[in-house]
Amino acid sequence: MCGIVGYVGEDKSVEVLMRGLRRLEYRGYDSAGIAVIDDDGVLNTRKRAGKLAILAGDLEANSINNGRTGIGHTRWATHGGPTDANAHPHLGDNGKLALIHNGIIENFSVLKDELLSEGFTFESETDTEVAAVLLGREYQRLGDLSAAFLSVVGRLDGAFTLLAVHQDQPGVVVGARRNSPLVIGLGDGENFLGSDVAAFVEFTRRAVAVGQDQIVTITPQVVTITDFEGNPVEFEEFDIAWDASAAEKGGWSSFMAKEVSEQPDAVANTLLGRIHEGQAVVPELEAFGDDVLASIRRIVIVACGTAANAGYVAKYAIEKWTRVPVDVELSHEFRYRDPVLNAETLIISISQSGETMDTLMAVKFARESGAKAISICNTQGATIPRESDAVIYTHAGPEVAVASTKGFTAQIAALYLFALHLARVRGSITAADAAAQVVELQAIPAKIATVLLQESAVHELAAWMSDTRAVLFLGRHVGFPIALEGALKLKELAYIHAEGFAAGELKHGPIALIEPGQPVFVVVPSPRGSAHLHPKVISNIQEIRARGARIIAIAEEGDVAVLPFADTVLRIPLAAPLFEPFLAVVPMQIFAMELATVKGLDVDQPRNLAKSVTVE
Ligand code: G6P
Repeated sequence: MCGIVGYVGEDKSVEVLMRGLRRLEYRGYDSAGIAVIDDDGVLNTRKRAGKLAILAGDLEANSINNGRTGIGHTRWATHGGPTDANAHPHLGDNGKLALIHNGIIENFSVLKDELLSEGFTFESETDTEVAAVLLGREYQRLGDLSAAFLSVVGRLDGAFTLLAVHQDQPGVVVGARRNSPLVIGLGDGENFLGSDVAAFVEFTRRAVAVGQDQIVTITPQVVTITDFEGNPVEFEEFDIAWDASAAEKGGWSSFMAKEVSEQPDAVANTLLGRIHEGQAVVPELEAFGDDVLASIRRIVIVACGTAANAGYVAKYAIEKWTRVPVDVELSHEFRYRDPVLNAETLIISISQSGETMDTLMAVKFARESGAKAISICNTQGATIPRESDAVIYTHAGPEVAVASTKGFTAQIAALYLFALHLARVRGSITAADAAAQVVELQAIPAKIATVLLQESAVHELAAWMSDTRAVLFLGRHVGFPIALEGALKLKELAYIHAEGFAAGELKHGPIALIEPGQPVFVVVPSPRGSAHLHPKVISNIQEIRARGARIIAIAEEGDVAVLPFADTVLRIPLAAPLFEPFLAVVPMQIFAMELATVKGLDVDQPRNLAKSVTVE
């Protein structure tokens, strides 16, 4: 939510900032802007409402001087609508200082009143401009940007990453971070700052994650970090595990199309190094020690959006294999209801970005209450893993499209590995059974590849349904969270009303929605699974078919029982019941993507959304 990039080095700031913003645009795309100090020491700012392409077009038509120092921002509006005036950067110190911001400054109106009473004026409705003017005032007093930051950060409440430049201090970018992400890129004679490593990965793969409540100052040669009291902080470098090409579209029509197709690799890479002699062995869990894992009495999964749906899927597997009770909670509901937590509770947070503020706050709250915390995360150097006792990274590669796809399947893979590891440690599964589950897991990438081959059938369906105004999704057991995910994808991408229901719940209310022609996706459980589930779902289909519903069944190869009752059958390969979610979700992802495309919508950047939501 809001992308931030900073650069000091060679006379190419405009290019570096614009390229960084292009990679960060998934974080917000309401407006964008840059500020660059040119070689004459003049600060030039350009900002425009709308997507980055509008700013790029503006710069092409009427360029600004290049320079060695600059900052850039792509916005997801919080305070003040997406207008040119509200776009970042905002200025302070009579236009000599430029500042960009990700997050929300909660006490901005008190600070604004203070500054107004001192005669300062404002041009926007944003909380960010208040920080810019305040920082400018402190710069006038102290004559140094890092010192001005030190003086200001203690006065700001809320969440923020701030970056600023001052034209009287060329060759310096200063940033501060509280509850919002900031990563440093270490170059050769140049240094970078970014909301995440995507901002600079094409220039360097050496990075440093800035910690909570820290101020970072970069020059072309030197990186300095202090805490908010000004004490120096030591930092550790890490290597970025993927290269710039992984964050490119590479010939695909959209990032989402590319990421859907990358799911076999995303799952396979997540399994890598975590299966040993046929058993799931997750080295990252060694941080706990087997005695701690054995003492867990309860697991609470916290997550939002698609990640929460991965949690709902994993609950079935974790409980079955480990016999530990699992609750899945939306992060933002969790901490406000005074949950029961103690040292025997394990919190598992799931977050592709590792920055979702609701989830971060849930993790912090749980740890303060004595619980242990594991993070399932796809982004190195992100905040949630740093605030957890252990992290199991998914290795899905960068996910750029706002709607999560490969992030989701990789999350389920990581959670299943976790569950099998825990079950082994606790002795709740036989070695033979655990090994059989591992075999199923290892077969998933090839099976997803098979599902992807049937893409054209889903495209036809989407084209045929382009005028559809509402779609229902039904599932049972692990098919239920997949129905939720199918509905979420359609809402996010195609702006169509969509609901996912537990098939058994239909008769308790939702069946009233069925009218002739109503499309209903049904995730049909394997007839080889529980003896009861398959016939029950077939009965559910008959109930809605009798009322005129148009049925699109997602069913395994060879399930002929479904044929008389389905208008369309999308086939998935045979898999053990707990592994069907990996396969059944894929046609739904493709369907939502294709329907959005047919409607002429931008599948990578759906309206009103942002990929990582760093406000509560
Ligand atoms: C936002 C995105 C969703 C995503 C959710 C959780 O709402 O629009 O697509 O599923 O955040 O994101 P996370 O990074 O925590 O997995």
